[in-house]
Amino acid sequence: MKLLSIESSCDETAAAVVEDGRKIISSVVSSQVEEHKKYGGVVPEIASRRHCENINGVVEKALADANLSLNELDGIAVTHAPGLIGALLVGVNFAKGLSFATGLPLIPVHHLRSHIAANYLAHEKLKPPFLCLVVSGGHSHIVEVIDYTTLRIVGKTRDDAAGEAFDKAARTMGMPYPGGIHLDKKAENGNPLSFKLPHPHVDGSPYDFSFSGLKTAVINLIHNAEQKGEILSVEDLSASFRKAVTDCLIENFIKAATDLGYNKLVMAGGVSANSLLRRRLQEECEKRSWEYYYPPLNLCGDNGAMVGAQGYYEFLAGHTAGMELNARATMSIDY
Ligand code: KG4
Ligand code: ZN
Repeated sequence: MKLLSIESSCDETAAAVVEDGRKIISSVVSSQVEEHKKYGGVVPEIASRRHCENINGVVEKALADANLSLNELDGIAVTHAPGLIGALLVGVNFAKGLSFATGLPLIPVHHLRSHIAANYLAHEKLKPPFLCLVVSGGHSHIVEVIDYTTLRIVGKTRDDAAGEAFDKAARTMGMPYPGGIHLDKKAENGNPLSFKLPHPHVDGSPYDFSFSGLKTAVINLIHNAEQKGEILSVEDLSASFRKAVTDCLIENFIKAATDLGYNKLVMAGGVSANSLLRRRLQEECEKRSWEYYYPPLNLCGDNGAMVGAQGYYEFLAGHTAGMELNARATMSIDY
C-alpha cells in the first residue's frame, strides 16, 4: 500500500511516498528555518504563508521522485494535530483537495504519533508494545505504545518541553534558532560538571518532567555574570545544561520502564537527535540488556515520511476521515 503523506505542523513543509508504513519511496522536506531565524523563533503567520507557497511544489516533487502519479497511490495521510493551527490548515486542506479530486482515502495523523513512527522506517523489526520517550520542540512525553494506534501517556512535562528549554537556553547564550543543535555541539567541548544546575522533580509524579526552573536557572546565571562583567564558558554552560536535561529525561524514562516492566525502549522527536541523550540511553539499555531504538538523524526532525508510516497503521485501524476533517492546535496522543 503506497501513501502520499503531508506534514505542515510547524516550519517544515514536507511530503513523502511511503510503502506499507516501512519503506520510504521518496521524501521531500522544505525548511523555513532560515527565515524564522531572523526573529529568534517560528513566526506562525509567516509559517502559514510559506506552507501555502511551497506545498504544491513539495508534493509534486515527492511524486516525481517516487516516479508515481496520484492514480497509482492508495491513500493520502496528513498531519492534522497538534501544531500551529494556520500551518496545519494548509496541509489539511491540500490533502482534502487531493482526496476529493482522486477519491483516495484521507488519513489524519497525530504529529507525535508520527514522530514515534519514524522508528518503523528505520528499524524493520520494531513492533509495539514498547515504551517511548517523545521529546520535541513542543512536547516531552513518556508513552506506552501498546499497539500501533493504542497509546497511553505515562508522564509528561508540567511546563516547558525539552526542546523549548534547549532553544531558550541556547538563545540566551547567543546561539541562533533553533538552538538545540548548536547547544549540543558546544556541549561536546565543555565540562558538564562546571555548573551545578537544578534537576527538578515533580512531587508525587515520578514520571513527569519540569524544565522551566532549569531554564530559568541558566538564564539567571548568564544575566548575573553579565552584570558582574564576568565571561562564562559557553561550552561548559552548554555541557552542564545538556547534562541536567538528559539526567531528568533518562532518570524518569528508566524508572517508568522498570516500574512498568518494559525492556524495549524507543526515543522519538527532534530532541532525540541530541548526542548525549542518544549515548546515555544506549548505555543505560546496554547495562540492562534492554532493546533500544532511536531514529537516524534525518528522521528525528519533522518530515513527511514519518506521517506515511503512522498513516499506514491508522488506515489499517480504520481511522480515515471525510471532508469534515479539521486541524487542531492541541490534541492528546492517546485519543
Ligand atoms: O520534533 P521537532 O523537529 O519539532 C516539533 O515537533 O517540535 O523538534 C524540534 C526541537 C527543537 O527544539 C530543536 O532545538 C530540538 O528539537 N533539537 C535538538 C537537537 N536537534 C534538534 N535539541 C537538542 N539537541 C539536538 N541535537
Ligand atoms: Zn515535530
